[in-house]
Amino acid sequence: MRKNIVAGNWKMNTTVPEGVKLAEEVNEALKGIEPKCDVVICVPFTHLVSVNNVITEKGKLGLGAENCADHKSGAYTGEVSAPMVASTGAGYVILGHSERRQYYGETAETLREKVALALENGLTPIFCIGEVLAEREADKHFDVVKAQIVDGLFNLSAEDFGKIILAYEPVWAIGTGKTATDDQAQEMHAFIRQTIAEKYGKEVADNTSILYGGSCKPSNARQIFAKPDVDGGLIGGASLKCADFMGIVEAFD
Ligand code: 13P
Repeated sequence: MRKNIVAGNWKMNTTVPEGVKLAEEVNEALKGIEPKCDVVICVPFTHLVSVNNVITEKGKLGLGAENCADHKSGAYTGEVSAPMVASTGAGYVILGHSERRQYYGETAETLREKVALALENGLTPIFCIGEVLAEREADKHFDVVKAQIVDGLFNLSAEDFGKIILAYEPVWAIGTGKTATDDQAQEMHAFIRQTIAEKYGKEVADNTSILYGGSCKPSNARQIFAKPDVDGGLIGGASLKCADFMGIVEAFD
């Protein structure tokens, strides 16, 4: 059966010392509890090695990057490859975040390359999808999300698709304080699972973890995670404070 997962996305926040301190706090907080979900922190590339070094609770706390390159190696100045990420000890990589699609022009084509390289290197992609406000208002949100899944992932074999974590992040809810309602999240997550079932069958669909992201916080996580097709969260702002992040982890009890 699919896993419940709470993953932090630190985005472009914290210096290395600040990030190490935050990771140490999360690691320490996890020592005292048996979380009912997998916990992951996705951190800037510069932080990966140092953060990996302070994670002692390897069974409880996973580490991820926020992106990787669409090439394996070579003359791509400034890029960081999937093998490089894997060599830090990280096990996850966020791919296709809306901020990367919007500000860095990521397309389905580059994302297919990134997903393939992540999988080849043993990284679990956390693949993000989600509509902007105008698309929801025009009642296009289901079509948009379906196209992101079909174009970015449906080239995969069922076996490889089974290694993907999905994150539904409505762009209008990211960093705005405006979350989707639990019913809006459930409606879209059920649609995503149905879309997967039509391509790969019910078993693969039932085993896929689909996270919700967008202004998730301790005060609303429990209600959203209680929905049958919501399997956890991808957390931005609230992952930058240990107490808030742990409050969301503890929404699974
Ligand atoms: P916020 O939780 O800050 O809204 O960000 C969500 C997000 O983009 C996680 O990837």
